[in-house]
Order: sequence, then C-alpha cells, then structure tokens
Amino acid sequence: MADLAIEVAELKKTYRTPFRRKKVEALRGVSFSVAKNQIFGFVGPNGAGKTTTIRTLMGLIRPTSGTAKLLGHAIPSRLARTRIGFLPEAPYFYDYLTVGELLDLAGRLFGLDATTRKQRADRLIERVGLDRARAQSLKKFSKGMLQRAGLAQALMNDPDLVVLDEPMSGLDPSGRKEVRDLILELRDQGKTVFFSTHILSDVEAITDRVAIVARGVLVGEGTPAELVNRHILGIDVVVRVPREADAELTAAPAGITRIRRLGDELGCTLPADTDVEAWLARAHDQGAKVVQVVPRHETLEDLFLRRTSDPAPGEPPAVAS
Ligand SMILES: Nc1ncnc2c1ncn2[C@@H]1O[C@H](COP(=O)(O)OP(=O)(O)OP(=O)(O)O)[C@@H](O)[C@H]1O
Ligand SMILES: [Mg+2]
Repeated sequence: MADLAIEVAELKKTYRTPFRRKKVEALRGVSFSVAKNQIFGFVGPNGAGKTTTIRTLMGLIRPTSGTAKLLGHAIPSRLARTRIGFLPEAPYFYDYLTVGELLDLAGRLFGLDATTRKQRADRLIERVGLDRARAQSLKKFSKGMLQRAGLAQALMNDPDLVVLDEPMSGLDPSGRKEVRDLILELRDQGKTVFFSTHILSDVEAITDRVAIVARGVLVGEGTPAELVNRHILGIDVVVRVPREADAELTAAPAGITRIRRLGDELGCTLPADTDVEAWLARAHDQGAKVVQVVPRHETLEDLFLRRTSDPAPGEPPAVAS
C-alpha cells in the first residue's frame, strides 16, 4: 500500500556460525508495518533482534525467509535506498575526517552537487549542535558527538524515511532530548522515522506506534497509550485519616500494597478489582476525607518487563492481545 513506509512480513533470520556449527534464530517470524509520516519505536532487550531487523531492511544481510518493503519497494532496493537515511548501531567513521568532510562524502555517495552538499552539511552541522567542533577530526569526538555526526550523515540525502538504530545511545539526558526534538521535527517535515531503543521513556514521549520485540518475535504492538492503558495495576488512594484507623483500613482487601503514611495522610494501592466505593465508605466511617483516587496504569516499562521476562526456553512467547 502506498501509505506504508515499511512493510515486514514473517521475517526470519537464522545466523549460522560455521565453526561451532551453532544456529542462532535471531528473528522467528516478525511482521509489522509502519505508516508514512509516523514515528515508530522498535524496542526490546539486548539480543532481541532489533539490529538484525534493521540490517535486513537496509539490505546489509539477507533474511532466511520472509519479505519486506521499504517505501513500496521490495528489499533490497537501490531506488528506495536513495530515499532512506540510515544511522547504524555504534557508527564507525574514518577517524581523520572532520564532520564537514564526513557529510560531504555522504552527499557525494548520493550524487548531490557541491552547492547542495555544502548547504545541507552546514544546516545539519548546526542542527545537531556540532558547529563548534567543525575543525576537529572525528577521532577527537566523544561518543555523543559521534552519534550526532551519524545523525547528520543519515539526513544528508533529505530522506523520506529515516531508520535509526539506537539513536539515543551514548547521549546524556539533554542530548537525548535534542534527538527526540529532532525526530519530532522530521515528522513535522512529513518524514517517517523508525528507530530502535532501550529507553522506554523516550518511546513513550514521542512515538506514534511501538513494537516490542523479544527473542526474535513481537510481543506487543500498538500506540503507547493502547499498550499501557490496557492494564490497570491497581488504584492509588490517599485519605486524610487519624493514624489509629490505619490497621482497620489496611486489613482488607487482600492484595493491598504500597501502604504509606505521610503526616495526616494514609496512602495505599488497592487491587484493580477492588470495590473502591465500599473501601471509601469504610474509610469514611473512620473519619477519613478523600484526598485522591487514581487508577494506576501500567507504564511502558512495566509492560516491557512483563512481556519480555517470561522465557519458556525455546518457546516463542505468545503475542499478547
Ligand atoms: N553476525 C551474527 N552472527 C551470529 N549471531 C548473531 C549475529 N548478529 C547477531 N547475532 C545474534 O542474534 C541475536 C539478535 O541480535 P541483534 O543484534 O539483532 O539484537 P539487538 O536487539 O539489536 O540487541 P542490542 O539491544 O544488544 O543491540 C542475538 O542472539 C545475537 O547474538
Ligand atoms: Mg542492536
């Protein structure tokens, strides 16, 4: 379909390590699609298959089976590649270049003329905050600076689709915010951004959709809100009540957690299926005033840990509804 930037169907990749004759099933049937002009987050623990998926999409490795399309073209597609910007995981650059030379080289590979190369390089160097490091060779760059140089390099061809493998890696919180802002800006310009990360707060903050991958299969997919709002962990209640009432109020229901006293306030988390009205009536009988009642939704991090932490050895985990 024309409105899809990425279509991946039943992608499998088994690495064969010839010497130990061991097989690694890095991807065991991954399917997802990314609509154009969206920010799509691809998250999963170490070894989940994120880089394998991305390297397959970029035509750097061949899948064992399955198909994928980028911008409507089956991979590997040279045509699509000219419309795609790519930041590899832990990018390696020739040390003795400056960032300007790196970008000029990238521009040449895409066949850009000298004027366009200069204009884009200047704008991108400024945009990623490397202006003051223009004279330095990349050899002297910190990890964060190299990551910025890599991002600028990925944007030299003014791509429609930007594929970033761990763009926030090695960056401090303010550097991560800058990358998040850049990604949002790219979407505002009409581009599609697909990125992998471990940092769930970054995903929660900026993505339109998320896929969670673990052990080579997807274990969740949806908007961040869909993924986290499905599951209520409990109901946080805070009441203002004399300390003497604590024992009575926390005796039931079973499964009450996070009991805490803050001055004249008692807080606790009731199980999700509690009859909250009944509990509050009991509190009222003890002279309580309600301060707050808030359902506690699972965070993306809770969900991530829950879905990626139950490995039945050898068994692909079930795709949750
Ligand atoms: N060239 C290779 N040869 C053999 N096995 C490999 C190769 N590349 C990756 N693997 C294995 O495939 C699995 C998936 O690796 P991959 O790099 O795709 O994970 P990832 O999700 O990107 O992890 P990380 O978060 O650490 O970057 C891992 O078990 C890894 O050890
Ligand atoms: Mg990786």
